[in-house]
Amino acid sequence: MDFNQCIKERRSIRNFTSQKVEHEKLERIIELARFSPSWKNSQTVRYIFVEDEQLKDKIANECVSGFVNNSNTIKKAPLLVVIATIKSRCGYERDGSFTTSKGDGWEMFDAGIATQTFCLASHSENLGTVVMGIFDEEKLGEAISLPENQKVSAIIALGYPTEPVNTPKRKEVSELITYK
Ligand SMILES: Cc1cc2nc3c(=O)[nH]c(=O)nc-3n(C[C@H](O)[C@H](O)[C@H](O)COP(=O)(O)O)c2cc1C
Repeated sequence: MDFNQCIKERRSIRNFTSQKVEHEKLERIIELARFSPSWKNSQTVRYIFVEDEQLKDKIANECVSGFVNNSNTIKKAPLLVVIATIKSRCGYERDGSFTTSKGDGWEMFDAGIATQTFCLASHSENLGTVVMGIFDEEKLGEAISLPENQKVSAIIALGYPTEPVNTPKRKEVSELITYK
Protein backbone atom coordinates (compact mmCIF):
# COMPACT_ATOMS: atom_id res chain seq x y z
CA MET A 1 0.00 0.00 0.00
CA ASP A 2 1.21 3.51 -0.86
CA PHE A 3 2.57 5.38 2.21
CA ASN A 4 0.34 8.49 1.84
CA GLN A 5 -2.71 6.34 1.13
CA CYS A 6 -2.04 4.21 4.22
CA ILE A 7 -1.90 7.29 6.46
CA LYS A 8 -4.85 9.10 4.92
CA GLU A 9 -7.18 6.13 4.50
CA ARG A 10 -6.72 4.56 7.95
CA ARG A 11 -9.96 5.10 9.89
CA SER A 12 -11.17 4.17 13.33
CA ILE A 13 -13.28 1.05 12.79
CA ARG A 14 -15.98 0.03 15.27
CA ASN A 15 -17.86 -2.64 13.28
CA PHE A 16 -16.19 -5.90 12.32
CA THR A 17 -17.02 -9.13 10.54
CA SER A 18 -16.73 -12.33 12.57
CA GLN A 19 -13.63 -13.41 10.59
CA LYS A 20 -10.73 -14.28 12.92
CA VAL A 21 -7.42 -12.45 12.52
CA GLU A 22 -4.67 -14.77 11.33
CA HIS A 23 -1.65 -15.07 13.66
CA GLU A 24 0.70 -14.66 10.66
CA LYS A 25 -0.84 -11.23 10.09
CA LEU A 26 -0.46 -10.29 13.76
CA GLU A 27 3.19 -11.27 13.60
CA ARG A 28 3.73 -9.23 10.40
CA ILE A 29 2.15 -6.23 12.15
CA ILE A 30 4.44 -6.55 15.17
CA GLU A 31 7.38 -7.09 12.81
CA LEU A 32 6.74 -3.47 11.71
CA ALA A 33 5.65 -2.06 15.09
CA ARG A 34 8.94 -3.18 16.66
CA PHE A 35 10.74 -0.67 14.43
CA SER A 36 8.96 2.24 16.16
CA PRO A 37 11.35 4.67 17.85
CA SER A 38 11.54 4.52 21.64
CA TRP A 39 13.21 6.31 24.56
CA LYS A 40 16.92 5.33 24.37
CA ASN A 41 15.75 2.36 22.28
CA SER A 42 14.26 0.93 25.48
CA GLN A 43 11.51 -0.91 23.52
CA THR A 44 9.18 -1.19 26.51
CA VAL A 45 5.92 -1.63 24.58
CA ARG A 46 4.22 -5.06 24.76
CA TYR A 47 1.19 -6.37 22.82
CA ILE A 48 -1.30 -8.69 24.51
CA PHE A 49 -3.78 -10.28 22.10
CA VAL A 50 -7.09 -11.24 23.71
CA GLU A 51 -8.83 -13.78 21.46
CA ASP A 52 -10.68 -15.77 24.10
CA GLU A 53 -14.37 -14.82 23.74
CA GLN A 54 -15.15 -15.20 27.46
CA LEU A 55 -12.26 -12.99 28.52
CA LYS A 56 -13.10 -10.44 25.82
CA ASP A 57 -16.73 -10.34 27.02
CA LYS A 58 -15.58 -9.89 30.61
CA ILE A 59 -13.45 -6.92 29.53
CA ALA A 60 -16.34 -5.48 27.49
CA ASN A 61 -18.76 -5.86 30.41
CA GLU A 62 -16.59 -4.96 33.38
CA CYS A 63 -13.49 -3.03 32.31
CA VAL A 64 -14.63 -0.04 30.20
CA SER A 65 -15.83 2.24 33.00
CA GLY A 66 -19.44 1.82 31.85
CA PHE A 67 -18.76 3.39 28.42
CA VAL A 68 -21.29 1.45 26.33
CA ASN A 69 -19.77 2.39 22.94
CA ASN A 70 -16.48 0.73 23.84
CA SER A 71 -18.28 -2.24 25.31
CA ASN A 72 -20.14 -2.76 22.02
CA THR A 73 -17.00 -2.26 19.93
CA ILE A 74 -15.07 -4.87 21.92
CA LYS A 75 -17.93 -7.38 21.64
CA LYS A 76 -18.02 -6.94 17.85
CA ALA A 77 -14.24 -7.23 17.39
CA PRO A 78 -12.76 -10.71 16.97
CA LEU A 79 -9.66 -9.57 18.80
CA LEU A 80 -8.73 -7.04 21.49
CA VAL A 81 -5.17 -5.78 21.74
CA VAL A 82 -3.88 -4.49 25.06
CA ILE A 83 -0.96 -2.08 24.64
CA ALA A 84 1.20 -2.31 27.76
CA THR A 85 4.59 -0.91 28.73
CA ILE A 86 7.29 -2.15 31.08
CA LYS A 87 7.27 0.24 34.04
CA SER A 88 10.06 2.53 35.26
CA ARG A 89 12.47 2.45 32.29
CA CYS A 90 11.20 4.90 29.71
CA GLY A 91 12.00 8.44 30.89
CA TYR A 92 14.06 7.19 33.83
CA GLU A 93 17.73 7.29 34.79
CA ARG A 94 19.44 4.12 36.03
CA ASP A 95 19.15 5.37 39.64
CA GLY A 96 15.33 5.50 39.30
CA SER A 97 15.05 9.29 39.01
CA PHE A 98 13.26 10.96 36.10
CA THR A 99 15.46 12.28 33.30
CA THR A 100 13.14 15.16 32.36
CA SER A 101 10.34 17.26 33.80
CA LYS A 102 7.84 15.05 31.94
CA GLY A 103 8.44 12.29 34.48
CA ASP A 104 7.05 8.95 33.31
CA GLY A 105 5.09 10.66 30.49
CA TRP A 106 7.53 9.23 27.95
CA GLU A 107 6.07 5.75 28.57
CA MET A 108 2.77 6.90 27.09
CA PHE A 109 4.62 8.70 24.32
CA ASP A 110 6.41 5.52 23.24
CA ALA A 111 3.19 3.53 23.54
CA GLY A 112 1.46 6.11 21.34
CA ILE A 113 4.09 5.92 18.62
CA ALA A 114 3.98 2.12 18.65
CA THR A 115 0.17 2.20 18.61
CA GLN A 116 0.11 4.35 15.48
CA THR A 117 2.62 2.06 13.76
CA PHE A 118 0.42 -0.88 14.82
CA CYS A 119 -2.72 0.75 13.40
CA LEU A 120 -1.06 1.70 10.11
CA ALA A 121 0.49 -1.75 9.70
CA SER A 122 -2.94 -3.29 10.41
CA HIS A 123 -4.55 -1.04 7.80
CA SER A 124 -1.97 -2.14 5.23
CA GLU A 125 -3.11 -5.73 5.98
CA ASN A 126 -6.75 -4.66 5.31
CA LEU A 127 -7.54 -4.86 9.01
CA GLY A 128 -9.49 -2.21 10.90
CA THR A 129 -8.53 -0.77 14.29
CA VAL A 130 -9.85 1.65 16.85
CA VAL A 131 -7.73 2.90 19.72
CA MET A 132 -9.73 3.13 22.95
CA GLY A 133 -8.67 5.28 25.87
CA ILE A 134 -11.75 4.81 28.04
CA PHE A 135 -11.18 1.71 30.19
CA ASP A 136 -10.61 0.86 33.84
CA GLU A 137 -6.87 0.29 34.10
CA GLU A 138 -7.00 -1.62 37.38
CA LYS A 139 -9.88 -3.96 36.45
CA LEU A 140 -8.37 -4.61 33.02
CA GLY A 141 -4.98 -5.43 34.52
CA GLU A 142 -6.61 -7.92 36.87
CA ALA A 143 -8.74 -9.49 34.13
CA ILE A 144 -5.74 -10.23 31.90
CA SER A 145 -3.36 -11.05 34.80
CA LEU A 146 -1.00 -8.30 33.70
CA PRO A 147 2.50 -8.82 35.15
CA GLU A 148 3.29 -6.47 38.10
CA ASN A 149 6.05 -4.72 36.16
CA GLN A 150 3.74 -3.67 33.30
CA LYS A 151 0.99 -1.10 32.92
CA VAL A 152 -1.69 -0.61 30.30
CA SER A 153 -1.51 2.40 27.96
CA ALA A 154 -4.39 1.74 25.60
CA ILE A 155 -6.60 -0.93 24.10
CA ILE A 156 -7.26 -1.52 20.41
CA ALA A 157 -10.15 -3.41 18.82
CA LEU A 158 -8.93 -5.26 15.73
CA GLY A 159 -10.64 -7.14 12.92
CA TYR A 160 -11.92 -7.03 9.36
CA PRO A 161 -14.13 -3.95 8.80
CA THR A 162 -17.73 -4.51 7.71
CA GLU A 163 -17.88 -1.33 5.60
CA PRO A 164 -15.90 1.81 4.73
CA VAL A 165 -16.15 4.69 7.21
CA ASN A 166 -16.24 8.44 6.44
CA THR A 167 -13.24 10.58 7.32
CA PRO A 168 -13.90 12.92 10.27
CA LYS A 169 -13.09 16.54 9.38
CA ARG A 170 -9.45 17.54 9.75
CA LYS A 171 -8.01 20.97 10.55
CA GLU A 172 -6.27 22.80 7.71
CA VAL A 173 -2.46 22.69 7.54
CA SER A 174 -2.34 26.45 8.13
CA GLU A 175 -4.17 26.03 11.48
CA LEU A 176 -1.58 23.58 12.72
CA ILE A 177 1.72 25.29 11.87
CA THR A 178 3.51 28.17 13.54
CA TYR A 179 6.74 29.53 12.08
CA LYS A 180 9.02 31.48 14.40
C1 LIG B 1 -5.78 8.31 22.57
C2 LIG B 1 -7.05 7.97 21.84
C3 LIG B 1 -8.14 7.52 22.56
C4 LIG B 1 -9.33 7.17 21.88
N1 LIG B 1 -10.36 6.65 22.61
C5 LIG B 1 -11.44 6.18 21.96
C6 LIG B 1 -12.45 5.48 22.68
O1 LIG B 1 -12.37 5.27 23.89
N2 LIG B 1 -13.51 5.01 21.97
C7 LIG B 1 -13.62 5.18 20.62
O2 LIG B 1 -14.62 4.71 20.04
N3 LIG B 1 -12.69 5.85 19.91
C8 LIG B 1 -11.59 6.34 20.53
N4 LIG B 1 -10.58 6.95 19.83
C9 LIG B 1 -10.69 7.12 18.35
C10 LIG B 1 -10.94 8.59 17.95
O3 LIG B 1 -12.28 8.93 18.25
C11 LIG B 1 -10.64 8.75 16.43
O4 LIG B 1 -9.28 8.50 16.21
C12 LIG B 1 -10.96 10.16 15.93
O5 LIG B 1 -12.35 10.42 16.00
C13 LIG B 1 -10.52 10.39 14.47
O6 LIG B 1 -11.08 9.42 13.63
P1 LIG B 1 -10.16 8.49 12.70
O7 LIG B 1 -9.32 7.63 13.62
O8 LIG B 1 -11.10 7.66 11.87
O9 LIG B 1 -9.29 9.37 11.86
C14 LIG B 1 -9.41 7.32 20.47
C15 LIG B 1 -8.30 7.76 19.76
C16 LIG B 1 -7.13 8.07 20.42
C17 LIG B 1 -5.91 8.50 19.61
